[in-house]
Amino acid sequence: MDLTQKIISLCKRRGFIFPCSEIYEGLGGVYDFGPLGVELKNNLKKTWWEEMIKNHDDIVGLDAAILMNPQVWKASGHLSAGFADELMECKDCRKRFKFDELNGDKCPECGGKLGKPRKFNLMMKTYVGPVEDEATVTYLRPETCQGIYINFLNVMSSMRLKIPFGMVQIGKAFRNEINPKNFVFRTREFEQMEMEWFCHPKEANKYFDYWKEERLKWYQKLGMRKENLRAKEISKEERAHYAKRQIDIEYHFPFGWGEIEGVHNRGDWDLKNHSKYSGKDLSYTEEDGSKYYPYIIETSVGVERALFAFLFEAYQEIKGGRTTTTESAKEVEVLLKLPKSLAPIKIAVLPLVKNKPEIVKKAKEVYQLLKPYFVCQYDEVGSIGRRYRRVDEVGVVASITCDFQTLEDNTITIRERDSMKQIRVEISKLQEVIQKILKGKNFLELGKLVK
Ligand code: GAP
Repeated sequence: MDLTQKIISLCKRRGFIFPCSEIYEGLGGVYDFGPLGVELKNNLKKTWWEEMIKNHDDIVGLDAAILMNPQVWKASGHLSAGFADELMECKDCRKRFKFDELNGDKCPECGGKLGKPRKFNLMMKTYVGPVEDEATVTYLRPETCQGIYINFLNVMSSMRLKIPFGMVQIGKAFRNEINPKNFVFRTREFEQMEMEWFCHPKEANKYFDYWKEERLKWYQKLGMRKENLRAKEISKEERAHYAKRQIDIEYHFPFGWGEIEGVHNRGDWDLKNHSKYSGKDLSYTEEDGSKYYPYIIETSVGVERALFAFLFEAYQEIKGGRTTTTESAKEVEVLLKLPKSLAPIKIAVLPLVKNKPEIVKKAKEVYQLLKPYFVCQYDEVGSIGRRYRRVDEVGVVASITCDFQTLEDNTITIRERDSMKQIRVEISKLQEVIQKILKGKNFLELGKLVK
């Protein structure tokens, strides 16, 4: 099994990601996030949001609607040829392919003859209200940022902001992709985390370089290896229709380099066009009376693509086993070394044995004690070695074991995922110690080392 298949299988088996509508044979290019997947995704979104809002000045948040007046999409250029892929259909098997992904003039599936390339718009159509006619047509948004542009005046005046400032938004986006592929890498429904930085045109290049560096640093802060990350300058011919300059931040997936984030200098394309189509003046007036359309520097992350990259980055197989139990010594063990901030489950609480009611009772008390503060899991099934392996496989940061000594002195052991070292800590100090572990404090200084 190749690495991608291993990750897909882990995602399904351990409740991260499932094919959508699986009991009805699925829906192409759409996925559901399970209990661990939704925690991981929420953590990723929270980490990004905090990075943007807390670590930068002059950035505010927004949650605009998915449905918008269809004029938005005329103004943005999404209803014209700029947001369309060229597709070719096989005359024999009727399968469709993206023109720019074909090598040669034969169908890659059946070797049949391909028809002429034709344009295919990626917008997902829907209707607002009970009558389904052209007057009620609108679209599911293909990018979240348009909701930001159309709220530019509302946000600027209600928050009394001055240029330069940024707006961030996280939300669903939809594209009727011809050829969804590579699991959650290219799907028809996905989420974006977008930041739009409004600035003076003369400062756009400076901010473009600044945001490019900031975004690369963010991935590295979360442990992504430098060699798996690159910033690719996109040529004029290949750029999105709105971009004056574009850099794709790419991750080295096992199936090749793939874009996880775009950094764009969108110029004044958006505010100028929305002014033109809406008839509202979206230009900015400086204190000296000079007027201009702000330029927009955008950073746009695909949540699922980044999450997929973090899963690859975290996945490790340890041959010969890493837990000390003999039963696992010959096996390959999986360790999901996710950054602490992203790990879906922070703490596992494990009674050493399940046939000693006092130990089980104590472990359940510890679980109840921690549950309001951390995402925890209680597990009493199977040997302790097997349970450690289960928690390592999904990246649980630390495991707490209640044992015979716990009954005597109210202490427990904490096992750290990455080092497998164990310390003994009093239950009364547990909450504080876990907080320190999650903040990355030196584990061995937080309790008495268990030899
Ligand atoms: N507002 C700018 C914009 O949407 P984009 O490069 O088209 O730019 C930004 O998309 C990011 O959204 C991409 O870098 C990618 O991570 C994600 N993305 C785009 N299409 C996607 C798809 N079909 N499936 C999953 N993620 C997608």
